[in-house]
Amino acid sequence: MNYVSSTTQSFIKLDKISKTYPGAVPVTALKKIDLVITAGERLALLGKSGSGKSTLLNLLALIDKPSRGHLLIDNRDATTFSEKEATSYRRRDIGFIFQFFNLLPTLTLRENITLPMELLAQKDDTLLKSLSREAGIENKLDRYPEEVSGGEQQRAAVIRALVKKPRLILADEPTGNLDLDTGLHIVGLMNEICKTFGTALVMVTHSPDAADTCGRRLRIVDGCLFPDD
Ligand SMILES: Nc1ncnc2c1ncn2[C@@H]1O[C@H](COP(=O)(O)OP(=O)(O)O)[C@@H](O)[C@H]1O
Ligand SMILES: [Mg+2]
Repeated sequence: MNYVSSTTQSFIKLDKISKTYPGAVPVTALKKIDLVITAGERLALLGKSGSGKSTLLNLLALIDKPSRGHLLIDNRDATTFSEKEATSYRRRDIGFIFQFFNLLPTLTLRENITLPMELLAQKDDTLLKSLSREAGIENKLDRYPEEVSGGEQQRAAVIRALVKKPRLILADEPTGNLDLDTGLHIVGLMNEICKTFGTALVMVTHSPDAADTCGRRLRIVDGCLFPDD
């Protein structure tokens, strides 16, 4: 049976989501999480290592499924999406910035960045150019990931997520490999793009300065979600 929410304004709604990883000793990484994310809302997710941050991002990206509870997207229960629907949602609506970049080693930075746009048949070279210039990697675009620094790979991964103008950006410690100034500059760029295109943002960060650029701060403690104020 489809679970339909009574509220209509939410983009994403988590209703008592729990996630347990099975195993000899099962790990409950998320415990009855309730959360509503409205369109264009930007929120920072704080929490110690192992608290459940990446697990939550993976659920939001439909990379993994909750063990209990409901995840609603536009008031539809995402657990009822077919594999095709889930893939198309991920491709069209989500930009994921992974903790370890996930750039394809056999493609140049430019090819890595434009791949999602090509999959969607919506190339925007002007946006690619302006973002690369802003991020300071415009003259590195024709190099392979192993030919640039970790920080430059990270910036390419950020641009890759932004250029397709998704509805939601999920960023797992997007500034972890950048120095403080560069990190804040990149976070500023992400926020600017999100505001321009009405993109929602969930950003895992350990930086209080980066967290302050978001409209709302949340903290995960041992799988439970709290407002951080
Ligand atoms: N695939 C997995 N299998 C089993 N346990 C996992 C898996 N992924 C994460 N965990 C466990 O779930 C908890 C939360 O992990 P994670 O979401 O990665 O935390 P964070 O991103 O906050 O560091 C940790 O105890 C971690 O060891
Ligand atoms: Mg993590």
